[in-house]
Amino acid sequence: MRHISALTTRRRVVGSLAAVLLCAAGLAAPAATARDTDGARETGGASDTRDRSAAEARPSAAKAKLPGDLARTPPMGFNNWNSTHCRAEFDEAMVKGIADLFVEKGLKDAGYQYVNLDDCWALPQRDANGKLVPDPKRFPNGIKGVADYVHGKGLKLGIYTSAGTKTCSDIGFPGALGHEVSDARQFADWGVDYLKYDNCNNQGVDAKQRYIAMRDALKATGRPIVYSICEWGENKPWEWAADVGHLWRTTGDISDNWSSMLSIMKQNLPLAEHAGPGRWNDPDMLEVGNGGMTDTEYRTHFSMWSIMASPLLIGSDLRKATPETFEIIGNKEVIAVDQDPLGKQGKVLSSDGGRWVVAKEMQDGSRTVALFNETGTAQSIATTAGAVGLPDADGYALRDLWQHKSYNTAGRIAATVPAHGTVLLRVAADGTWGKNPPAVELGLGGDPLVEAGQAKKLTSRVTNLGRTSAQQVSATFSGPSGWRIRATSPSTAGSLRTGASLSTSWTVTAPRGTAPGAYDLTLKAAYRSPGGARAARVLPLTAHVVVAPPAGDSAVSDLPWMSAVNGWGPVEKDTSNGEEAAGDGKPLTIGGAVFAKGLGVHAASAVEYYTGGACEKVAAQVGVDDEKGAKGTVTFEIWADGKKAASTGVLTNADTARGLTADVSGAQVVRLVVTDGGDGRDSDHADWAGPVLSC
Ligand code: GLA
Repeated sequence: MRHISALTTRRRVVGSLAAVLLCAAGLAAPAATARDTDGARETGGASDTRDRSAAEARPSAAKAKLPGDLARTPPMGFNNWNSTHCRAEFDEAMVKGIADLFVEKGLKDAGYQYVNLDDCWALPQRDANGKLVPDPKRFPNGIKGVADYVHGKGLKLGIYTSAGTKTCSDIGFPGALGHEVSDARQFADWGVDYLKYDNCNNQGVDAKQRYIAMRDALKATGRPIVYSICEWGENKPWEWAADVGHLWRTTGDISDNWSSMLSIMKQNLPLAEHAGPGRWNDPDMLEVGNGGMTDTEYRTHFSMWSIMASPLLIGSDLRKATPETFEIIGNKEVIAVDQDPLGKQGKVLSSDGGRWVVAKEMQDGSRTVALFNETGTAQSIATTAGAVGLPDADGYALRDLWQHKSYNTAGRIAATVPAHGTVLLRVAADGTWGKNPPAVELGLGGDPLVEAGQAKKLTSRVTNLGRTSAQQVSATFSGPSGWRIRATSPSTAGSLRTGASLSTSWTVTAPRGTAPGAYDLTLKAAYRSPGGARAARVLPLTAHVVVAPPAGDSAVSDLPWMSAVNGWGPVEKDTSNGEEAAGDGKPLTIGGAVFAKGLGVHAASAVEYYTGGACEKVAAQVGVDDEKGAKGTVTFEIWADGKKAASTGVLTNADTARGLTADVSGAQVVRLVVTDGGDGRDSDHADWAGPVLSC
């Protein structure tokens, strides 16, 4: 993973540099001494530009936290990093443009407030007085200029620096280590309202000490400044930073892909108990709208960040954003989940088989429930009002926060959730359920895997979850034009009482010659509540047009896959992963052995092949590719339909290629999975060497 690898490299340099400095000073010294030593090195003869007060102001953990009323709910705003990094388009025009759009597009009204500048806003050198200098090309009117503009719109301005000698950018802008008091003063004088304080080039100085020093410096300015700790979760800030900052990053950097977002979500979810008003877990900024995920995935990203009470910092350039992006980030019902004043982070109730139920207690006694589907196929995900913590009641009001519709349920909370999707519901035992139509759950039996020109049998089910009956129920099933979809059993029912279902059999036929790939299908139920009010529920589904596997032995890399998910860059055929563009890999190499055929992937990865019940065996050599040195740890798994048929356990670079064979008899789909081995997906380049499918 590129950016993080760069960071880890930087961290390694930092560690050894600190050690050398300590040795040179003949010290097995406390961190503070290392910092003083380094400060002298860093500024050479000009150590006079460092804060004279830094030594006296040596941080005390006992000091009260920053002004109390800030960030009572998770901060909301914008940060340029995810869309621009250090590129030239990060400038005054961008910042002003974002502030304008916050107002014009209703985002300010929706709660977005902070317009934050990330790395690369400064010149690489301080001035003769040790002061920071804004880059005059990017910010011709200085930071004060943009702060005034942003404040003029009733918004707030944020800035960035690092608790180190330089920031994280490879160019290396000045960091605030040893300059805390002066830099904080400068920020306050410019009118800054929010500081993101990063972790690069920290010279091995103790994290608490570095972050407390800046807290005290911010406090000393007398200006209310939200303080965002960004040490990537390395020192478990959730255990010590509640009195230091208002929020703390819990993970490495997010990037704009499904696997990164998912991995970060999974690291942040278990930390729920540490969050609360004025102290938030920060799983990093939003990628919604940057183009690397589907809108379904971005809705999951936004839903899950909200149910985790995460800071909502928009990370796409709104000047180029689509209506869908504005619709996602502007969803006030979802934002209200994030901003609920009780300040609880949602907790995981279950996650079996990638079917996640997360519930968040809300101030009004209701619960927000996320039914999140991590898998690549639609899944039925269910819980109950009791399980999410609601009291016993005859019925419950259930609000779908993406569809903006209200229903009633007798207690079961369930939906079939599309691949990578999230159904976000707010459920209340407030006695208002009776005015809503009943909720129904739509489901599909059988995999929508279709060979062109051949009729495929599928069964739909409409189940009434409501306390009241569902009447005049009808199911419809539609697909792309030219597809034939026919009901072969009744598709209507006069009335469904609580818990009853209408099942309908269908045949689905894609025209002969339809190209292999994914196609949209839509299952819909229309019905009436007992009072006659119309209601409907829609389930978007994905059909895969597939080609029967060839008889005999086939090299897997010569077969077309049905779907491929990869941690970094695309899955590569017959080369290693390479991380970025397609075709950037090297020869597949495990423990010095080179393989001509196979797949080069990066955890977390899943590549699916259609086997149509006609194959018996998958056999491969597997291992961590040599190209990334000694860091990767992964496990290889072969799945036959929903079952794990074989796995390796954790492998590292120390392991030579290992044989992995699975019996896949009868399976419709075989899935080749690589997980991160439980330690995050850093440098996890994994090779399926010479895999063969026997049918
Ligand atoms: C680190 C941070 C990122 C970003 C960059 C800027 O990687 O974690 O969020 O601020 O530095 O260089």
